[in-house]
Amino acid sequence: TRSAPVSPVARQVTCTAPVNIAVVKYWGKRDAKLILPSNSSLSVTLSQDDLHSRTTISLAPTHVTDRMWLNGSECSVPANERLVNCLAAARRHREALEKANPELPRWSTWGIHIGSENNFPTAAGLASSASGYACLVFTLAQVLELPLTGPELSRYARLGSGSACRSIMGGFVAWNMGTQADGTDSQAYQVAPETHWPELEALILVVNDAKKGTSSTVGMQTTVATSALAAHRFTHVVPERMRAMETAIADRDFAQFAELTMQDSNQFHAICLDTYPPIFYMNDTSKAVVHLVTAINRLMPTIQAAYTFDAGPNAVIYAPRDHMTRLLQLFTYFFPAPTDVSTRDFFNDPYARVPEGVVLGRDFPAEYQAVRDTFAVSTPGAVKRIIHTRVGDGPRVLSSPEASVLNAQGLPK
Ligand code: DP6
Repeated sequence: TRSAPVSPVARQVTCTAPVNIAVVKYWGKRDAKLILPSNSSLSVTLSQDDLHSRTTISLAPTHVTDRMWLNGSECSVPANERLVNCLAAARRHREALEKANPELPRWSTWGIHIGSENNFPTAAGLASSASGYACLVFTLAQVLELPLTGPELSRYARLGSGSACRSIMGGFVAWNMGTQADGTDSQAYQVAPETHWPELEALILVVNDAKKGTSSTVGMQTTVATSALAAHRFTHVVPERMRAMETAIADRDFAQFAELTMQDSNQFHAICLDTYPPIFYMNDTSKAVVHLVTAINRLMPTIQAAYTFDAGPNAVIYAPRDHMTRLLQLFTYFFPAPTDVSTRDFFNDPYARVPEGVVLGRDFPAEYQAVRDTFAVSTPGAVKRIIHTRVGDGPRVLSSPEASVLNAQGLPK
């Protein structure tokens, strides 16, 4: 079959958007359709240089239906209600602009082709819905020329996935739960830009896990319906914790930031256990990470690292740059690489934190000697891979045509 000739007026834009990892967790909805949360939340945007979604949108009068390709294979647009909601919201916004100014081209009536990819493997078990929907909505706003502020854009991203609203901005981002029934005040705002605390870095310990866990959407619905502890968290814990976390970030107070982050992760997993039937996301490897981080934080005069876990067993470790070399030595010693994976594939040291002469997995950090014999070394491969990243900026527009996920016809390359 010959592909339709490309329309001379077709428009195409490509963007990337970052992943974010919450330090005050979102878990619970008060409205599932509009994705309105039961509590406010706060996250750190991670660098797109390491992890990102990349999306190309092609807009043309010759595209007869909306189509989407995710990591190269086509997926049904009508079958994905959240995607349909995001597209409809952006089109309605464009239509209103066209009504108000009849000189504007009628882009709201054109078909949309979407190509989207993640630069991290789905098998890594990292949530891609946050970066994916943030990228979709950011790219839509570019291609349709919607004059939206970050917070306004975050409301559209929220319709795709709650956590996506926090990936619309860089640095430290809060999602204000809001009180309006229509969600007009349930949006993200930037607490501090990435330049405020560039020393804050993160390690993602990708934990080996065979079984498929409960999805966030289903899990949080069951929690809201059955957990009495969750109700307590929403009204009595999160409001004060949000204020304390914003202060810790403003002061670049790592000890305070770390303590709040670990306590909030613990509470999120406690309300999962309080859900009936209970939900377990952390496994034995996750728990070993908690014990290890707790031990080094006790041992040293200052807090070394903070752990946090989302709806799966992977650990995210936040720590200041200065602690990273010894933390990498510690984690690779207790969690050796899988036997069939090269050291480079296990950890590729993108920020060159392993000094000349130090062998990861063998050389124990001198500062932490006292905990060396108090823990057992895990089976090789309990941690599959370690990703090093840091706080980063918000979505970016890519100008180079090579960056595009779709070809000039708006089809996969
Ligand atoms: C544990 O944003 O994936 O990562 O809104 O249903 O799409 P939906 O859920 P999602 O939930 C994320 C939950 C979390 C905590 C967080 O990111 O705040």
